[in-house]
Amino acid sequence: MKKNIKTAILLCAAFLIISSGCTPFVVRNTPDEPVETSDDPRFSFEIDDKSSDSDETGKSSENSASQSNSDSLSDNDKSSSKAKENSDSLVSEAPPENEEITAISLDVEKSDPQIGQTIKVIVTVTPDQDAEYILRSDDENVVTANEDGTLTAVGEGTCTVTAALKDNASVSDAVQITVSAPKNTDQEQNQDFYVDGILIVNKKYFITADYNPGGLTLECYSAFERLTNAAAEEGISIYALSDFRSYEEQVAIYNDYVMQYGEDGANSLCALPGHSEHQTGLAIDCASYDSGYFPGSPAAAWLDEHCAEYGFIIRYPAGHEAATGYSYEPWHIRYIGAKAKQITDSGLSLEEYYDLND
Ligand code: DAL
Ligand code: ZN
Repeated sequence: MKKNIKTAILLCAAFLIISSGCTPFVVRNTPDEPVETSDDPRFSFEIDDKSSDSDETGKSSENSASQSNSDSLSDNDKSSSKAKENSDSLVSEAPPENEEITAISLDVEKSDPQIGQTIKVIVTVTPDQDAEYILRSDDENVVTANEDGTLTAVGEGTCTVTAALKDNASVSDAVQITVSAPKNTDQEQNQDFYVDGILIVNKKYFITADYNPGGLTLECYSAFERLTNAAAEEGISIYALSDFRSYEEQVAIYNDYVMQYGEDGANSLCALPGHSEHQTGLAIDCASYDSGYFPGSPAAAWLDEHCAEYGFIIRYPAGHEAATGYSYEPWHIRYIGAKAKQITDSGLSLEEYYDLND
């Protein structure tokens, strides 16, 4: 008995579905209209179904199109008008004849880079190859999107990078990128590296993201206090403009530099996260209340002459850019301790003094 009722319900449902034409993918033709072929653009429409725009990874699917014999629908044709009604809720306007649907595709050279690697990106927009698009990372602690159209892997984790048309963000494509810590043994040896009791952090040697003394080290803080007091006694104001920076703060600063100067420019002015001495709590960028522009100021000259007396070195000296990898920074001092005087008197950068670039 139950089985008979079930069968009857299924038959009714099937009849209703067929008579209403509720599936948008079905091509319906009235008997007195010619049957059109599937490649006739008048009988194509875009499916305006948001859920089909992207899958769960955020990757957009191809623009879908299906057919509908909408030209053949007449107001008097009840079943056809029902089909049209249903279609209207699912479709947008048919594009004019010969107009191609705009699509964008995003490919990356590498989807599993290591920290510090730059990734090339290939974005193809059809049919308008010159259409502007925006490249965006949903987690800039993992991957940054650069102005020159490349990506940089800056931290461990997984994120989604999206390319979307500037004028129509709904036309987009996305890829997932998983960044890992540098794996080769060379890199492992380059982590938390000390020479002569001095923690080395530069382009080659790095500290991990969780290295966080929480501020300047006590030794560095009190040495800087002595330095600023001594300078003040000579009428020179020196203060810390930037001292300790966490890994995450360095990510944000590095990204700003990339936006402003491009990747190459940024790399000569700012360290990659994990490669900045500011994260050690042993480096300070100095400024002076006496002069807005620090280079060439009396404060810069005083720092150059006296900072070693307090255990600091000018870390990126002029004329040693090739060795340090950074432009001259008269404001960036690094607390070294007892060896500061010897290193300064040598006239060498830290890299040259300890042969760190070999
Ligand atoms: N400006 C230096 C290199 C840093 O970002 O640590
Ligand atoms: Zn600095």
